[in-house]
Amino acid sequence: MSTPSQRVQTLREQLNEHNYRYYVLNAPTISDREFDVLLEELQALEAEHPELVTSDSPTQRVGSDLSDQFPTVAHAHPMLSLANTYSEEEAREFDRRVRERLDNESFHYTAELKIDGVAISLIYEDGLLTRGVTRGNGEEGDDITPNVRTINSIPLRVRDTEVHGTKLRNFEVRGEVYMRVEEFNAMNREREGRGEKAFANPRNSTAGSLKMLDPKLVAERPLKIFIYSLFTNDLELRSHYINLDLLKELGFRVNPYVQLCGTIDDVLTYWREWEEKRETLPYEVDGVVVKVDSLEQQEKLGQISKSPRWAMAWKFETLTARTKLNDIATQVGRSGRVTPVAELEPVFLAGSTVSRATLHNADFIAELDVRIGDMVEIEKGGDVIPKVNRVILDERADNSEPYTFPVTCPCPLNSTLIRPEGEANYFCAHNECPWQLRGRIEHYASRGAMDIEGLGEKVVDQFVTLGWLNNVADIYDLRDRRNEIAELQRWGEKSADNLLEGIEKSKTQPLWRLIFGLGIRHVGASVARILAKKYSQLERLAEATQEELEEINEIGPHIANSIVDFFEDTNNLYRIKRLHDAGLRMGDPEPDPDEDEGYTRDAFFAEKTFVLTGTLNNFTRDEAAAEIEKRGGKTSSSVSKKTDYVVAGEKAGSKLERATQLGIKVIDEDELALRLHHVHENKPGGEPQNR
Ligand code: IVH
Repeated sequence: MSTPSQRVQTLREQLNEHNYRYYVLNAPTISDREFDVLLEELQALEAEHPELVTSDSPTQRVGSDLSDQFPTVAHAHPMLSLANTYSEEEAREFDRRVRERLDNESFHYTAELKIDGVAISLIYEDGLLTRGVTRGNGEEGDDITPNVRTINSIPLRVRDTEVHGTKLRNFEVRGEVYMRVEEFNAMNREREGRGEKAFANPRNSTAGSLKMLDPKLVAERPLKIFIYSLFTNDLELRSHYINLDLLKELGFRVNPYVQLCGTIDDVLTYWREWEEKRETLPYEVDGVVVKVDSLEQQEKLGQISKSPRWAMAWKFETLTARTKLNDIATQVGRSGRVTPVAELEPVFLAGSTVSRATLHNADFIAELDVRIGDMVEIEKGGDVIPKVNRVILDERADNSEPYTFPVTCPCPLNSTLIRPEGEANYFCAHNECPWQLRGRIEHYASRGAMDIEGLGEKVVDQFVTLGWLNNVADIYDLRDRRNEIAELQRWGEKSADNLLEGIEKSKTQPLWRLIFGLGIRHVGASVARILAKKYSQLERLAEATQEELEEINEIGPHIANSIVDFFEDTNNLYRIKRLHDAGLRMGDPEPDPDEDEGYTRDAFFAEKTFVLTGTLNNFTRDEAAAEIEKRGGKTSSSVSKKTDYVVAGEKAGSKLERATQLGIKVIDEDELALRLHHVHENKPGGEPQNR
């Protein structure tokens, strides 16, 4: 047994290490809950032995995310953190303390979701965003204004809002920057495809994104924000709940699921409801935050060290489970990349049974030192692909051995795997590897690429096995096998014809889909779009030189090299010729000059639906609609989930309200004018800028 002093020392070392991993490396190795357990033990020991408290104890500060890459600025009010609990007992205890301190005055709570992202403070002066700062150590944070400006849902200028005749112009708001799970997953897949390290979860990825040094790169990350607090000297604020409404009027995104609660039981009900429903949300939440609603009462309650007495975080159980790692399988993707997959003793976790989880790559396995036979902790959040968090070392068998990555491809050809320098992944370099082949054909036909209906994974697998498909060009010879296909089990004439029709239709797909579908390494959908825009014919892309490609803004030497290599490979050229002979369009039609009137399609407007509402000062609504349509956008008269932007003029009413309810982006006339103008400036002939 260790003495209290020794235990305090150990706990501090552990907590400091975990704080560092969490805030600086963005790579935690224990769950929040486990961290809280350690912190609570330390708090209890320090309470019992006040002589052991030191100023540098982890209990004495808010975790810090300060880095030396950004200027440091002091917060006008400290950014506090919240005391938290997982237990109803402690939640009721919180309520008892509040009531006691308020001398049994009547009061309300607000209950809201605790968004699992990264806290940020935004300063507005005369209605304009002037500064964005991270929480840092609570007292001072990193000034990351240029990065914050790239987040679309943060208004650069707020809407005019009057409260009792006073305009709100100078204030600070705070909120949580986060990523939607689906967008996070898509981004991670693209990263892995480029051989980059995958992020552990949306929160880490958000934190990493906000700390990037190039705002252009930040702009590519799918960051969003919910604002949850407001500070100002312009007027006297009274209620947190009403503040949230005010924030909405100012044009901020506020989470719609806030609830005013009369009693602690109402809050507990809200907590239980969301614990059940959390997975229906498109973003991750890790609990609920309960706050005393009246700002006057908040002040009366005050704070202890780093957290307020008027608020508390009630956490949800984390979605982790422990199970045995039975084996590590390897999968070969279309690029030959070998992905290790954990085969687990099936375990029930957050609504489904999990028997596989990703292990990313050889480095990831080595970092965790995960071994076959280990007990591991797996985690699943929302739709995030389950992953192995860590090994339960205490339960490791004595005779376990470090995992060694296989040296050969699991396919029947058994070719030797290679690991290119600087890559985290192993690759099967054999061009005829049947696993790669299947992956390539599947990818070509997939919804994100050539979108051939009826040619999904199972069908590809079946046709490859039958020897009917050996490469993507063979797809277009399938029409010679119509009767054979119709005679297959579970097929029939109708299905065969539908498939052939789907194949026929793919011949006129836009060029970017073809480029993406060809599966050139490092060329994802967004690079494919850029290439299609630049070259408009596959033939011209095939002739592009390394230097020429590198001149394109978004294309570095890596991508350029891989494109040139692809078009130098005679096998590829032969297949492309066959696609051409099969009647594929192989390019995009030149834009029709009559239709275009010389305007450039603009990424901000293209394929987006806008609703115009309220009074505009410098356009009629028809004029504004025409300008939007010229740039490839659509306009509609009613707000629905399909609306992308609501342009709110003066006195906007119910449509604006509905937009805020649905979480639809709202822009004002100035922003619309700015964006329309932005396209004009690039005329004539210039490339539209990418947003
Ligand atoms: S209020 C003093 N409301 O949770 C109260 N915080 O540990 C300040 N968070 O740093 C925070 N959703 O990053 C509040 N609806 C919400 C929140 C929220 C997420 C985060 C925030 C804060 C941490 C508290």
